Amino acid sequence: LTSAGGILEIDLDVAESEVVVGGATQRMLTFNGTVPGPTLHLHPGDRLLVHLHNGLGEATNLHTHGLLVSASGNSDNPFVHIEPGESFDYEIVLPDDHPAGVCWYHPHHHGMVADQLFGGLYGAILVDEDDWTDAAPRVAVVSDVTFSGGAVAEVTNAERRVGRTGDVLLVNGQPRPELRAPTGSEQRLVIVNACASRYLDLQLAGLYARLLGIDTGHVDEAVTTLFLVPGNRADVVLTMPDSSASVTTAAYERAQGGMGGGMMGGASTLSPETLVLTLTPDSAAPAPSVLPSTTTNPPDLRSATLDGSRTLTMSMGMGGGAGMQFLIDGAEFDPDRIDQSVALGAVEEWTIRNVSPMDHPFHLHIWPMQVQSVGGVATRGMDVRDVVNVAPNSEVVVRLFFDRFPGKTLYHCHILDHEDLGMMGVIEAS
Ligand code: C2O
Ligand code: CU
Ligand code: CU
Repeated sequence: LTSAGGILEIDLDVAESEVVVGGATQRMLTFNGTVPGPTLHLHPGDRLLVHLHNGLGEATNLHTHGLLVSASGNSDNPFVHIEPGESFDYEIVLPDDHPAGVCWYHPHHHGMVADQLFGGLYGAILVDEDDWTDAAPRVAVVSDVTFSGGAVAEVTNAERRVGRTGDVLLVNGQPRPELRAPTGSEQRLVIVNACASRYLDLQLAGLYARLLGIDTGHVDEAVTTLFLVPGNRADVVLTMPDSSASVTTAAYERAQGGMGGGMMGGASTLSPETLVLTLTPDSAAPAPSVLPSTTTNPPDLRSATLDGSRTLTMSMGMGGGAGMQFLIDGAEFDPDRIDQSVALGAVEEWTIRNVSPMDHPFHLHIWPMQVQSVGGVATRGMDVRDVVNVAPNSEVVVRLFFDRFPGKTLYHCHILDHEDLGMMGVIEAS
């Protein structure tokens, strides 16, 4: 769906529906009856009008993850509650200087985010100055799910504590996907990690892969691996190989020193190696030409004068609803508390510490993070992203420019069970 005349107007009906996944009928949560929901193509300066109807038996809402837009009123406001049977009209205005990039949308109703995404509610958003007539990039929305008895499986509290991982990896709602294109053709592929908790450590060795960007940040470099934590997106160009090749995700352990046992009630933080995509040369398949995205990054903040700095600390403790607490600065999420007040126009440096034995992917809404260092190692080049992994007992330093968008929004762990269990805070810019 592409905007016309600067407006993209769309009805999104959220409902439980039957979808066919890998040949079997399953009940999932859907936007307009499909998993993922429709891909939205937007341009800088566009207005996105979404009429969202909630056909679920519980509350929901919508977040446009990665868009640099206001979080107030009926824009990308994560505090909206849309009750069962009700509708809400979102009006989300992209600034004229909005960067190109891959964004996505998903519900953000506190306490239900993991269930609703794991159930199937997510979709891609592409922002570019180009027109997409017949050369749109291919979109790969990666998610995982566990089915049981023809529906999405319930999870245990132990799985919530570690962050649920599905048994099946899906790309655009289907297992074992294949990309067919002529040998030697360049295929622009945008990848969204829409998994509730799974880290994607994509292995591209043996392929010629060029990374154009992560989230709304831009780079241009050859890559052999691509590490995408939940919420991250990548814009890559793959050169189709001579013979069939596969892209896998390597096994990834999200916790230090086998926390499985007692502390986590036996649930594992290990995601085993899995096939993500098969590339099959096919001279008869269409080969859309590759359109370069706009490659401007925001002003580099590495030598900026700082107006302030602060430290945020993610931790875990005993107790809490699911048997463990997930905290930022010692507190669970409270929508009525302002945790960080920032001044519009300020440039700040934030140190995000993780004093727990498990990885936590830190996400801030609205203002992209410029990563300065990871675990004490300075970043080379600009690294602009909106979700950054913070390893166990480590820290990441980012710089932020609160250039606009007064109002309240959120930051949180993008392991969605941790977010639902309270690892989230409120930021207000004024
Ligand atoms: Cu992907 Cu607060 O969200
Ligand atoms: Cu977000
Ligand atoms: Cu976490």
